[in-house]
Amino acid sequence: MSASAIGIDIGGTGIKAAAVDVQEGRLASDRVRLLTPHPATPEAVVATAGETIASLPGDGPVGIGLPAAIVDGHVMTAANLAKEWVGVGVRDAFSEALGRPAVVLNDADAAGLAEMRFGAGRGESGVVMVLTLGTGIGSALFIDGELVPNTELGHLEMRGKDAEERAAASVRERKGLSWKRWSRRLNEYLALIDRLFWPDLIILGGGISKKPDKFLAFVDARPRVVPAQLANQAGIVGAALRAYETAPRQRAPATAARRRAPARSRR
Ligand code: BGC
Repeated sequence: MSASAIGIDIGGTGIKAAAVDVQEGRLASDRVRLLTPHPATPEAVVATAGETIASLPGDGPVGIGLPAAIVDGHVMTAANLAKEWVGVGVRDAFSEALGRPAVVLNDADAAGLAEMRFGAGRGESGVVMVLTLGTGIGSALFIDGELVPNTELGHLEMRGKDAEERAAASVRERKGLSWKRWSRRLNEYLALIDRLFWPDLIILGGGISKKPDKFLAFVDARPRVVPAQLANQAGIVGAALRAYETAPRQRAPATAARRRAPARSRR
């Protein structure tokens, strides 16, 4: 399995992982899913992530999608994570715990990378906005195929609230809204995105992309709007892809055992 890497998608309820064929953009193993520990502290989540990959084949790098803005391997925000995550150097924490090179990125950015390479965004140039509608709303902005990371557009203000509190897919379920009524909220959100970014294409991802017939007919927006194609595998595939393309080729940073080893003489 040369062109393979592991992808991990960390969410509020589950941590999902699989080996990924990064040339074909599909899972190369069964998907392992464990419940997100509570409280979801960095230590507990890192440990559970280790359990999810223990049985997976291959020894390639690991990509991890987190619902947070990630800059230079550090967590900058924690809207749906415990506050202790802010400031944590997650790239090093995961690399050490997993014993392999790790790369961490925003979960929606990961899903967007997978859609652009293998799914609904393949071959699309111009301004493309991938929106993941799930517990929250994630966003990934692409300009001629290049990701502008960490856009966090689920937190745009809509009627005095975070947009994700009005238009995420979870809100439809929680409030028992019909698809038609929820689609009105979605349309309002898409209009807001449009007024600010004027995208050529909007790709709607997250769990709802598996049921486009439920809501696509109600979507009314200026730009082209299409459902994502990789459904809930996008986060795993995109994280693995990013790891394969950017993780350092050397092994993980020194483990405790290696750190204790005596320094080698230079000659
Ligand atoms: C977080 C984003 C994340 C999105 C989807 C938002 O609440 O701030 O980082 O991409 O949820 O999980």
